[in-house]
Amino acid sequence: MKNKILVTGGAGYIGSHTCIALHEAGYDIVVYDNLSNSSREAIRRVSNLIGESIKFIEGDIRDDEMLGQVFSSNDFFGVIHFAGLKSVSESVAEPLLYYDNNVSGTITLLEVMAEYGIKNLVFSSSATVYGDPETLPIDESSPRSCTNPYGQSKLAVEYILEDLAVSDNSWNLIALRYFNPVGAHSSGQIGEDPNDIPNNLMPYISQVAVGKLEKLSIFGNDYRTIDGTGIRDFIHVIDLAQGHVAALNYLKNQIIINKRDSIRFLPINLGTGNGTSVLELVNTFTEVTGKAIPYQFTDRRKGDVASCYASASKAKFLLGWEAKLSITEMCQDTWNWQSNNPNGYSVKDI
Ligand code: NAD
Ligand code: UFG
Repeated sequence: MKNKILVTGGAGYIGSHTCIALHEAGYDIVVYDNLSNSSREAIRRVSNLIGESIKFIEGDIRDDEMLGQVFSSNDFFGVIHFAGLKSVSESVAEPLLYYDNNVSGTITLLEVMAEYGIKNLVFSSSATVYGDPETLPIDESSPRSCTNPYGQSKLAVEYILEDLAVSDNSWNLIALRYFNPVGAHSSGQIGEDPNDIPNNLMPYISQVAVGKLEKLSIFGNDYRTIDGTGIRDFIHVIDLAQGHVAALNYLKNQIIINKRDSIRFLPINLGTGNGTSVLELVNTFTEVTGKAIPYQFTDRRKGDVASCYASASKAKFLLGWEAKLSITEMCQDTWNWQSNNPNGYSVKDI
């Protein structure tokens, strides 16, 4: 049975953790990444953690020739497609870059996959495709809408995958809709390494804790939530990584063992099913680490929703997967990574 997987964007935050989980599950991985938001150091550390050198190719998903070479020299079962740009604010400033990278890049990847007859794909989608949810928890049949180019690029790819599955039923396309990934590998060797000042809550908190940033701004304390701050479904990146293994195992079982024709297009939430408020996360971080996080309340951030958390039952029912790690473990592991690597993967701390 083929077990070789192409991991686009495998040097990034979620990809690097998933590479370890895939290796432990017996998959043979090839990482393809243009390092636009990651570093060789991440690859080196993943190799150290798994005890063997990862196969790494520096390349862009928009480069069909290079992708073609990779597919012609490897016999893949399928692709896990993490490669993409992910900053909401940058996407508003540079929409063409985001549509080109995330949408055109995915089309190029799908074209090359089709050319080589590889039709199994796990795509990194996002809870952002649900926009401002009408009901909570959010299940996969909830209406989709987006308010920024990043979200639109994820939604556009979902539509493309749906249309592709209709046009040719030999495609097996799973879109994993991640909620809010946080945390790091328990070794403290790999974790999230934002380029500039973090946009997201957990890396911001941990950079305040380590003394790189002075104070957290909490965007809004007048939402209709338990304490007025936003509520999110934070999920440990290790659980998320296991979700990808479960998705691949599901594809294999359906296609090879159950001899089902195809999966077509299957969207699945990866979340815990629990909502945690911004203040609750800040307080847990302080309890776990002993680090006070100075904060101030500021205006709501444009485009933010009050509450967003998953119905996680489809993943449990179909994939046999559910998140196991708690908010406490998310804070502990984030701090272990941040305190051991105050400058992330930068050469300053090698
Ligand atoms: P990340 O930036 O750490 O990883 C993405 C990786 O893709 C990086 O290593 C980057 O260098 C690479 N990449 C980007 N464009 C590329 C291109 N054109 N060709 C080749 N490689 C390219 O981000 P992440 O947090 O690990 O996210 C992975 C995926 O999950 C992304 O598609 C992101 O949109 C999606 N996602 C992330 C979150 C989150 O909060 N982190 C939430 C929902 C969905
Ligand atoms: N927040 C603050 N201060 C900060 C950063 C965030 O108060 O400095 C608040 C936000 O207002 C929000 C919550 O913390 O209430 C979470 O914000 P994040 O930016 O960490 O995450 P989002 O829910 O806005 O978005 C994230 C990713 C998106 C992804 C989405 C759903 O950034 O890419 O989760 O998966 F699409």
